[in-house]
Amino acid sequence: MRTTRPGTTRRAALMMGSGAMAASVAAMLPSSSRAQSSPGVPSAAPSRIGIIGSGNIGGAIGSLWVQAGHPVLFSSRHPEELKGLVDGLGSLARAGTPQEAVAFGDVVFVAVPYGAMPGISREFGSAFGGKVLLDACNAVAGRDGEVANAANAKGIGLATAGYFPSARVVRAFNTLGVNVFKAQAHRPGAPLAVPIAGDDPNAITVASGLVRDAGFEPVPVGPLARATEFAMGSRGFGQALDAQQLRQLLSLSASRS
Ligand SMILES: NC(=O)c1ccc[n+]([C@@H]2O[C@H](COP(=O)([O-])OP(=O)(O)OC[C@H]3O[C@@H](n4cnc5c(N)ncnc54)[C@H](OP(=O)(O)O)[C@@H]3O)[C@@H](O)[C@H]2O)c1
Repeated sequence: MRTTRPGTTRRAALMMGSGAMAASVAAMLPSSSRAQSSPGVPSAAPSRIGIIGSGNIGGAIGSLWVQAGHPVLFSSRHPEELKGLVDGLGSLARAGTPQEAVAFGDVVFVAVPYGAMPGISREFGSAFGGKVLLDACNAVAGRDGEVANAANAKGIGLATAGYFPSARVVRAFNTLGVNVFKAQAHRPGAPLAVPIAGDDPNAITVASGLVRDAGFEPVPVGPLARATEFAMGSRGFGQALDAQQLRQLLSLSASRS
């Protein structure tokens, strides 16, 4: 029989934080910004979202999408450990396996250590046909070993597309720490900018809507090859800016967003 794993404590904290986050976010929103990106009101028709890797970043961003009105299946290789997280989020949230997350989602958000990508690709890659894959994973050599070195050599967006050739990959939510996302979702004033990159224009549109629904402003940087411009170690990484400031930093024209 399995004993409780370290992730359980983190998930309990996520669960406790999610309800409070929803309430405080709703309370602090001025009515003008509620019209833009309001918890409980998706920007378009709700997307079914599957999450692979319901840890720090998957749990937090997935919770924001539930609060925006999207049905979300949070997955784990041990889905019973997600009970606290999904119970705290209400009826739009459910728990399952990674296989169920891919089957459930029109959009699949992947938030795992990059070293897990080859295995996830082998096990579930064929089930991604045509789905939008939002990739928040960073390739960290000290954690992910040779898989990280290969991804960084190829360019991380292209590397993920190589693992999931049938998916429409968009890089998103990789540049800032989870606590920044939690604290600044739906912030008053100019929203926090989230750089995104992808090759499929429709997938960029879907990703942009979901970035807005989570409480941020999407900044499309270009095709997947340009995800290197906001990969770990690049000038676009770790920048808690608004969209105008981020575009300026990355030398993007205003018309891109
Ligand atoms: N933490 C941040 O602030 C942050 C911010 C931006 C981007 N990122 C990036 O996002 C990714 C996740 O970071 P995190 O901090 O959220 O990590 P985390 O809290 O450790 O969560 C990662 C999750 O990945 C799952 N996982 C690991 N190996 C897997 C596999 N082979 N198959 C399926 N699921 C697997 C684990 O789920 P189970 O064990 O339950 O199956 C775990 O809950 C990393 O690449 C990180 O660099 C992190």
